[in-house]
Amino acid sequence: MLPERLLAGPVALRHFTAADAPRVQLLAGEREVAESTALIPHPYPDGAAAAWIATHESARATGTEFTYAITESGEDVLIGAIGLRPGPSEHESFGYWIGRPYWNRGYATAAAQAIIVLAFEWLDLDELTASHLARNVASGRVMEKCGMRLLRTETRDHRGTPEEFCVRGITREGWARVIGSDAPGQRPRVAETAKR
Ligand SMILES: CC(C)(COP(=O)(O)OP(=O)(O)OC[C@H]1O[C@@H](n2cnc3c(N)ncnc32)[C@H](O)[C@@H]1OP(=O)(O)O)[C@@H](O)C(=O)NCCC(=O)NCCS
Repeated sequence: MLPERLLAGPVALRHFTAADAPRVQLLAGEREVAESTALIPHPYPDGAAAAWIATHESARATGTEFTYAITESGEDVLIGAIGLRPGPSEHESFGYWIGRPYWNRGYATAAAQAIIVLAFEWLDLDELTASHLARNVASGRVMEKCGMRLLRTETRDHRGTPEEFCVRGITREGWARVIGSDAPGQRPRVAETAKR
C-alpha cells in the first residue's frame, strides 16, 4: 500500500478529494496545460473532473494507477497532479501537470522525484519510463533533472496530429546513481506525513 500523503521538498502529495474538482477544471482546463498532455480534455467539460477523481480509488485498489494531488508544502490547495502507472501502458509509467501560475518553481521535478522514490522503494519496480512532446522543453527538463535518460524519439498521434515525442527512462540502478552523486543537501527527500 502506498502512502496517502507525502512530503517532497517544496511540494506535498495527497489523494484527491471531490472538493478538488473545481481546481482541476480551472488549472488543467487551461489550453497551455491540456495541450501538452495526451488525455486532458480542452475545453474541460463540467463534471469531468469529479468523474475522473471518482476513478482514483478503484485504480489504487487494483494497483493500476496511483494518482496524487500536488499541493505546496504546508498547504492543501491543489496546484497539480501526478499519476504513476506501474503496469505496461501505452502512456508509459507516469505523467503530471502543474497549474500555470505555479510553473518554474521546481514543483513538477519534486513531485516526479517523489513518484520515482515510490516506484523504486515502495513498489519495487525496476524501471520507469515517461514521454513528452519534443517541443515540451520544460517537461524534458523535469525528466532530465530526475536523471531520466533519452531512450528514443518517435512520431505519435497527439490530439489528432502526428508529433515527435521523446521517450525517457530510468532504472533502479540509474536512480541509485542520481541519489549517490548529488550533494547531500540536494538529495530528494520524501517523507510520509500524517493527515492534517
Ligand atoms: C511541464 C510542467 C509539468 C513543468 O512543471 P514545473 O513545475 O514548471 O517544472 P519545474 O519547475 O520542476 O522544472 C521546469 C524546468 O524547465 C525549464 N523551462 C521551462 N520552460 C522552458 C523553456 N521554454 N525552455 C527551456 N527550459 C524551460 C525551467 O527553467 C526548469 O528548469 P531549471 O530548473 O533547470 O531552470 C508544466 O509546465 C506543465 O504542467 N505543463 C503542461 C502539462 C505538461 O506538459 N505535462 C507533462 C506532459 S509530458
